[in-house]
Amino acid sequence: MENHPVEAEGSALQKHILVIDDDQVFLTTLSDILSKEFKVSSCNSSKVARDLISLNQYDLILSDVQMPHISGTDLLSWIKKNHPTKVILMTGFGKILETQEAYELGADGFIVKPFRKDDLFSGIRNILGQPSAPATGAEAKATNPVGNGEPEDIDKQFCKLSIEDFVAQKEIDYPIYIKLGNRNYVKISHKGGKIPEDRIEIYKSKGIKHLYIKQEDFHKLIGFTMLVSKAVAASGQVDKQKKQRFLAYTGELLVQQAFVTGIDKRSLDNAKDFLLTSVSILSEDLETFTLLDSLSGHADWLYAHSLGVSVMSLLIARQMGFQSPQTLFKLSFVGLFHDIGKKEISREILEKSRMQLNSEEIHLLETHSTRSRDILAALKTAPSDVIQIAYEHHEDQVGQGYPRRPSADKLHPLSPLVQMADIFTLHTLKSPQFPNPKSATEAINYIEMLYSEQVDRKVFSALKEIVCKKN
Ligand SMILES: [Fe+2]
Ligand SMILES: [Fe+2]
Repeated sequence: MENHPVEAEGSALQKHILVIDDDQVFLTTLSDILSKEFKVSSCNSSKVARDLISLNQYDLILSDVQMPHISGTDLLSWIKKNHPTKVILMTGFGKILETQEAYELGADGFIVKPFRKDDLFSGIRNILGQPSAPATGAEAKATNPVGNGEPEDIDKQFCKLSIEDFVAQKEIDYPIYIKLGNRNYVKISHKGGKIPEDRIEIYKSKGIKHLYIKQEDFHKLIGFTMLVSKAVAASGQVDKQKKQRFLAYTGELLVQQAFVTGIDKRSLDNAKDFLLTSVSILSEDLETFTLLDSLSGHADWLYAHSLGVSVMSLLIARQMGFQSPQTLFKLSFVGLFHDIGKKEISREILEKSRMQLNSEEIHLLETHSTRSRDILAALKTAPSDVIQIAYEHHEDQVGQGYPRRPSADKLHPLSPLVQMADIFTLHTLKSPQFPNPKSATEAINYIEMLYSEQVDRKVFSALKEIVCKKN
């Protein structure tokens, strides 16, 4: 049954919106809500909508996707061919992936049902180019970017996280998005809401591997305060292209590394995603970016080693049940910077094997963890745990490491974890000291033989489980 179009009251200055939905109750409620701010017309079929659009001029069309006879997507295609009107499509969460086509057809925005009133309004205002709070619900396409007007900036506003990370989440303190094609993000969960487990399963069954959160929410989530704020002069910020090149290079290193052999691919991809997001966050700060850049410039294998230690630390931590994003971020941070002190030591010494070093050179090399501590302590962004763990990454369980040799119970609880990740990465990743790296299983056997006293047994068990879990 198709009804006659309904027109709500509105002033001539108001933007005119046509709302289309075959669910009459929903249509009436939505029209009532929108009529508080806009002039609203409504109808419950695409057929009627086509007639209305041919006869009237609308500023925006808000249409359901799943409708009998002519779907919202078909209607969109017709509108885009015949009228230059903006279109926002509405759909249920389970159908969100089918809407990819709609984006390609030129939908200006998307909103996932059920949605909140403020999200609806901010999404509409955003697409109509009206001033409003930052866009949330119906994110604009690249043609109407949120942010500073550059389309590519949209991607930079979001952080990619593995969908697996959301399975264990009890409560969500931030909105979550799905990425549909290039630069299109659709909100699927609200702040304070929950994504039910079965919904996660549906997304996974449809091949969704990642969910996205806004970068500022990721900062909150990991408890990391960016000191690079809008107040900082442009000269204090990292050049965008430089950052992008660095992230692409980091991504390549993460893909190429041989240490991937012998470890469950899904867990590994998960850890790499988290790490790449952490590198991206840290690269926004000029000080940390400059340090990372100088580390990779000093010796690319050393930067690869640092990435490897971060990845292994994340894998071991997850295996041991650490879920907190704060802890995982700190581990990424330490992994990346634990050997930063080595940038003050000549490549010639760094590239010699231990057997080739004289006692003076060994002494100099062993100063690197103290140097790492001092460099990190001078940063405004490094949390105190990160500084301590970097300082202790060569300490061990029997007080024979360096530089302080404290008893095991005096170490930061995460130091043995990073120590383990460091030893494992050293032996499994190609470097001038280890031109023929071991496989993961060989490295486990080697550690068992040579380091069994020095390493924490629980941490070592977790590492063994990761390696055995493969395939
Ligand atoms: Fe080290
Ligand atoms: Fe290291």
